[in-house]
Amino acid sequence: PSLLLSAAKMDQYNHILKEAINYGSKVGNTVNEKVQEAIDYLGVLFGCEILKIIPGRVSTEIDARLSFDTKKSVAKALKLIQLYEQMGIQKERVLIKIASTWEGIQAAKILEEKHNIHCNLTLLFSFTQAVACAEAGVTLISPFVGRILDWYVANTNTKSFEPEKDPGVISVTQIYNYYKKYDYKTVVMGASFRNIGEIKALAGCDYLTIGPALLKDLEDDDEPISEQLSIKSAKSTDIEKINIDE
Ligand code: E4P
Repeated sequence: PSLLLSAAKMDQYNHILKEAINYGSKVGNTVNEKVQEAIDYLGVLFGCEILKIIPGRVSTEIDARLSFDTKKSVAKALKLIQLYEQMGIQKERVLIKIASTWEGIQAAKILEEKHNIHCNLTLLFSFTQAVACAEAGVTLISPFVGRILDWYVANTNTKSFEPEKDPGVISVTQIYNYYKKYDYKTVVMGASFRNIGEIKALAGCDYLTIGPALLKDLEDDDEPISEQLSIKSAKSTDIEKINIDE
């Protein structure tokens, strides 16, 4: 409730927040359920607002506490899509955002195969997770460039990396090249950037998600992006195709 109340101070969205709180209190039975219903509904209402402005798709995340429960993740995703559809939004415009745990990846596989619901697999920090997502046929992955860098900075003696040697950039480049070489339909959206060097090094990736501060830095940056986009050297990976056994 405190989360909702502090958010409700944002005047611009007051009506949306009130609507979500009202919905949650009607639909939930216990206090916890009422709050969770309100939070889910709020995500969908904000998603609808964004879809009024942009032509593309919006991601809506399922409750992170369901990350290790395939069945509950599928049920929650179906519920979110149902709410979108009740508001007149087609499911093609929504990506259900799910953590890239094994259980989350299996939930995405069911949603994509059985329900034709598209998924964005988040909290992705490794090549192994990326291969499992592609094998599961998910629509999109969000590898976390900056979180990989954070780990290296915290756990090695190297405190700063040139963009080409940035471990987050190297990881996304490897994933991207592997996907293209083996013709996976899953697309890569680089996320969690720490500086514009990382963004420029990954220019040419399928998608990048960039926060407002770094977008401003990019706007102010005069250095041109190299025409030799390292990420575009598709099919350059020498990694053999990996098969994932359940
Ligand atoms: C997106 O889903 C993530 O929440 C975001 O990109 C993570 O960024 P951060 O590592 O800067 O928190």
